[in-house]
Amino acid sequence: MLHYQIKEASKKQGWLTLVLLHAFPFSSDMWENERKVFSGYAKVLTPDLPGFGGSPRLDEVSIANMAEEVRHLLDHLKIEEPVVIGGLSMGGYVALEFYNRYPGRVRGLMLFATRAGADSRETRETRFKTIREIEQNGLDAFAEKTVFKMVGKTTAVLKPGTVQGIKQSMLASKEQGVTDALRAMAERADLTDLLGAVMCPTLILAGEEDGIIPPEEAAAMENKIPMAEMYRIPRVGHLINLENPEMFTALVESFLMTAIYKYSKQEMTHKSF
Ligand code: MLT
Repeated sequence: MLHYQIKEASKKQGWLTLVLLHAFPFSSDMWENERKVFSGYAKVLTPDLPGFGGSPRLDEVSIANMAEEVRHLLDHLKIEEPVVIGGLSMGGYVALEFYNRYPGRVRGLMLFATRAGADSRETRETRFKTIREIEQNGLDAFAEKTVFKMVGKTTAVLKPGTVQGIKQSMLASKEQGVTDALRAMAERADLTDLLGAVMCPTLILAGEEDGIIPPEEAAAMENKIPMAEMYRIPRVGHLINLENPEMFTALVESFLMTAIYKYSKQEMTHKSF
């Protein structure tokens, strides 16, 4: 069973469950601010994906099996109502795969700094090279090399404390979890054909300075998903919520208010909205 951090909604009107899936190579710790902010009106469930945080690794790790683990967790917690599920980057791959398997359990989808397509041959080869490097040299060299690709150039220059915190989080991961996830991402399915069949409100966010998954990928998804809305966030790279928490939470809140609560039978009555 996946380890998770959960924050119950502080108001009894908070009937909605929000599931947030973390990026690679982090854990549910990356949603600390979101647990605090969104629990004003929703139950916020943030699992550690297999091999990260407190979750055990899987014998057969894949993005599909990660989505299955999320489903097991919802069953275990008896969350039967459809949820709003969102993920950043690798978390987005899992969220989309979850929708692919269980569309009836999804009320809304949130895709942050992610893509629907599979890896190119070149990207796949780079992932396997990275696995070999991590096995030889450990995570230190990997974190050193990767951290500045994770953030935008604005964050790199103006927010050294944020960059340092991100690096520490990378180093807190287990080597085996990291290499498992690299393999899982390299072998994931192409879900581009699913996009036209996504029949729930969908929020897509992209950082203008994202060098890992450029905003064009987000625009391509927006064009295909019927009920999608997309925002490009300036001066932000790949780790949108860590680089500009205020903008991130404002956009998610606005999506929840206009696309989810407004069209749901149960009214959201929390005063701050
Ligand atoms: C992530 O942030 O989850 C990863 O960078 C995604 C990827 O490498 O495809």
